[in-house]
Amino acid sequence: MKISVIGCGYLGAVHAASMAELGHDVVGIDIDEAKIAALSEGRAPFFEPGLPEILQSALASGRLTFSTDFAAVGGATVHFVAVGTPQKPGEYAADLTYVNAAVDALVPHLKDGDLVVGKSTVPVGTAAALSARIYANNQTASLAWNPEFLREGFAVKDTISPDRLVYGVPAGETGERASALLDEVYAAALQNDTPRVVTDFATAELVKVAANAFLATKISFINAMAEIAEVSGADVTSLADAIGYDARIGRRFLNAGVGFGGGCLPKDIRAFSARAEELGRGESVAFLKEVDAINLRRRQRVVDLVKEELGGQVYKKKVAVLGLAFKPDSDDIRDSPALDVAVQLHGLGAEVVATDPEAIENSRKRHPQLLFTDNIDTAVNRADAIVVLTEWKQFRELDPVALAEKVDNPLIIDGRNCLDPGRWRTAGWTYRGMGRP
Ligand code: UGA
Repeated sequence: MKISVIGCGYLGAVHAASMAELGHDVVGIDIDEAKIAALSEGRAPFFEPGLPEILQSALASGRLTFSTDFAAVGGATVHFVAVGTPQKPGEYAADLTYVNAAVDALVPHLKDGDLVVGKSTVPVGTAAALSARIYANNQTASLAWNPEFLREGFAVKDTISPDRLVYGVPAGETGERASALLDEVYAAALQNDTPRVVTDFATAELVKVAANAFLATKISFINAMAEIAEVSGADVTSLADAIGYDARIGRRFLNAGVGFGGGCLPKDIRAFSARAEELGRGESVAFLKEVDAINLRRRQRVVDLVKEELGGQVYKKKVAVLGLAFKPDSDDIRDSPALDVAVQLHGLGAEVVATDPEAIENSRKRHPQLLFTDNIDTAVNRADAIVVLTEWKQFRELDPVALAEKVDNPLIIDGRNCLDPGRWRTAGWTYRGMGRP
């Protein structure tokens, strides 16, 4: 297939490279010249395991090109829209400026019979409006909504071998043609029996936000249990193991800790609330406000634990922060609980020294007031407290015995419940986890 991908951020860059890897001819479009220059040289503008490799092999094969010029989409039949839908400043709702601009820029280049495929996460009702916009300009082009479920850190695998495909298409012949084109795009996944749900626009749009809302709720549920565990002496990790054995519940996404962050879950639950209110059904997802509130309280809990263990205040205390990214195997710091906690501790007068295997550069740009080091030993040297906030393998494997020699005060706050309390305590540390005795 000849494919264009509009927007070469996280979603678009991975999608473009993965589609070329599958044998399609792909052009990626973005208005950011620096991003296009990097991608054209085979450099990923963000850290994503496996992406540089497929980017370089696809570029070498000649099947993948990048451009800042929309006219370059002219050779393609299927056009994916993969631009961002961030939270509006000062509001809960999603900002659709980029989606609307992408479709407006694309429309003049559409040929008869072309298919535009929305991938961005949008409020329900967006696809119907965009479809009308496309139809007003070209009555033979059509739209499908094909949400993306990739996880950062596993983005290439999730794109090439998704766990399901969802097509939102119009009724009748137009929809059948759209489905047939998408089947060609995803032929490899379909050959491997990937489940495929063909539905209408509204359902496809809602599937995406419902999935993220469910995941966020699952995390906040276990974090709420952590809060109860903290006042009753229970251990939320054992609790999660025990309820997780029930296949109807499942153990995944039941890790209590400093909570969820990133460019998706937090803004998606807020945009969902805003859209539900617009539709007159705010009460149906009112619980998402609680989900958000529980999540944000966990950041405060970590700060409070550090304070409590340091005798009530952190002023002039050296705090080593291990982890800045919103999750391991990522350099993404959007709404990162880890970075938020580091900033809060700094604001309280602590001498924060932060480290992360990949996210220092992004963190420094956003918060130049913090001290960063790429060396764990330097970070923990003479520290009064160590706070683990992103469960990178490097931090999970730290040796408590060796580390005890380097710090002034053997205090470890495990904001991700990723360490073995027994091992740390045996080595002489005060260990505090989240929702653990
Ligand atoms: C999320 C969804 O998992 C993807 O399916 C979706 O496609 C994507 O958003 C998106 O909308 O584009 P992602 O943002 O990469 O993916 O991150 P997750 O793996 O979902 O983790 C989100 C946050 O939850 C992280 O901060 C993570 O540390 C936290 N988390 C996760 C927990 O605190 N506990 C858990 O048990 C699991």
